Amino acid sequence: MIEIENIHKIFNEKSSEPFEALKSITLHIAKNEAIILSGVSGSGKSTLLSLIASLDKPSSGKIVVDGELISKLPDLHASHYRAKSIGFIFQHFNLLEALSVEENIIAPLIPSRLDIITIKKQAQESMQRAGIAHKASQTIRELSGGEKQRCAIARALVTDPKLIICDEPTANLDKANSLKFIEILSTLKALGKTIIVATHDPIFDTLPFESRLIKMEDGRIVDE
Ligand SMILES: Nc1ncnc2c1ncn2[C@@H]1O[C@H](COP(=O)(O)OP(=O)(O)OP(=O)(O)O)[C@@H](O)[C@H]1O
Ligand SMILES: [Mg+2]
Repeated sequence: MIEIENIHKIFNEKSSEPFEALKSITLHIAKNEAIILSGVSGSGKSTLLSLIASLDKPSSGKIVVDGELISKLPDLHASHYRAKSIGFIFQHFNLLEALSVEENIIAPLIPSRLDIITIKKQAQESMQRAGIAHKASQTIRELSGGEKQRCAIARALVTDPKLIICDEPTANLDKANSLKFIEILSTLKALGKTIIVATHDPIFDTLPFESRLIKMEDGRIVDE
C-alpha cells in the first residue's frame, strides 16, 4: 500500500547549514500492517510521518500510496489526499477547545458536502467506536486527557480513512488510558486499517495484535 523509495529530507537546503533529517529511507508497508516506528528524539520519526501524510515533500526519492505518487502532489491535491485517506492522531490532540466533542468530530466532514443527517450518523458511529459518545455535547476543555485522546481518535476515524498515522499518541496519557488507546488500535487493525505509530512508549513493546517494529537512528532505518 505504501512504497517509500530512497527518500532524503534536507531542511534549510539552501542555507549555509543544511540539515539532513532523513537519509536514504526505503520502506514498504502492506495494507493492514501495523508499523511501530521507534528511535530516540530527533531520529526523524515525525519527519517521516509528515512525508507519508504529504504535509511536506521529500528533497529526493519517491513515495507512492495506493498507486498515487504523493511525493509530487501539488498542495491542493495533497489536502484532498489527506482528507480522503488519512486519519491523524497527535500527542497534543489538536482539538478545538471551545467546541463540543461532536463539533470537533464533524469538522473534517464539512468539506465533503454530505447532508447533515449523514454527517451526524457518521460522527455518532466514530464516537461510539472510540468510546466517547457519552460526552458528545461536552466542550473539549471539560474533558480529561484520555477523553480528549478518544475524541481525537473519533475525529481521525470519521472520514473512514485507510491509513491511520499516530505521532506519540500516548505521550500525555496514563497507563490505563494508554492501554485503552491500544485496544482501539487493535479494533482498527481488525477493521483492515493500515496503522503507523511513532513512539518512545515501551507500552508498544507488547501489543495484542501483529505489528512490525522499525527502529530509526540519525535519519536512517537501523533495524527492522
Ligand atoms: N522544519 C525543520 N527545520 C529544520 N530542522 C528540522 C525541522 N523539522 C525537524 N528538524 C530536525 O530534524 C530532526 C528530526 O526531527 P523529527 O521531529 O523528525 O524527530 P523525531 O524522531 O520525531 O523526534 P521526537 O521523538 O523528539 O519527536 C531533528 O534534528 C530536528 O531538529
Ligand atoms: Mg516526533
